[in-house]
Amino acid sequence: MHKKRVLIVFYSFTRQTKLMLNKFIEGLECEGVEVTVQRLVPVSPYEFPFKSYAGLIKATVETFFQKRFEIEVLDEKCYGNWDRVIIAGPTWSYNPSGPVIEFLDRFGRDVCGDQHVIPFISCRAYWRVHNWGLGRRLKRCGAAVVEDPIVFTHLIHEPWRTIGLILQMRGKMVRKENSWFRKKYPGYGHNREQNNIALEEGHKLGKKLNAQVGR
Ligand SMILES: Cc1cc2nc3c(=O)[nH]c(=O)nc-3n(C[C@H](O)[C@H](O)[C@H](O)COP(=O)(O)O)c2cc1C
Repeated sequence: MHKKRVLIVFYSFTRQTKLMLNKFIEGLECEGVEVTVQRLVPVSPYEFPFKSYAGLIKATVETFFQKRFEIEVLDEKCYGNWDRVIIAGPTWSYNPSGPVIEFLDRFGRDVCGDQHVIPFISCRAYWRVHNWGLGRRLKRCGAAVVEDPIVFTHLIHEPWRTIGLILQMRGKMVRKENSWFRKKYPGYGHNREQNNIALEEGHKLGKKLNAQVGR
């Protein structure tokens, strides 16, 4: 039996998608799946943290209107036939992030055409519009099948989840661990339990692929 092969194309601005992917890949590799990873590298990324609230608001508006981010050319290794292609990245103002949209515009047809694709999303809370838009774009690129997404949200109650995100984006997170705010908002992003879920998702997909004959 040939080793199953998965391509992961990802962008991650604050490492949350990457952290979840690391565990997901660990799960896949434990099942004997060969994983190829392509990071999308924007030529002029947003600075992190944002220097001002005005800069953050500007980014929110730009990304709402689906601003593209020029990305570096993809590696040749991405082109080929895969058992699955994973398109991973954060939600930005209800949309896929600028680098992912640019990837789909420029390389989507060549990389995702005729492939089985799984969206992989990291977001604070709102992923459905992102997933719908991503699915539409993938279909336009000729993807054979777009499967249900793998989604990770920030598991903290509002309003702390939004306040925490804004503070993190401005590099102004409250440092004191025993402050009242940190009791409400232990930390930005995904939590430890979600690491285990990501790992489990990797195992699950690996097992599913190994059980399939052909693609
Ligand atoms: C400009 C910008 C816009 C965002 N818009 C949304 C949004 O509309 N919905 C949401 O749930 N999260 C939104 N987020 C939060 C990110 O999706 C979330 O923090 C994610 O975990 C980041 O993943 P990353 O570290 O891989 O970039 C936004 C973040 C940024 C920087």
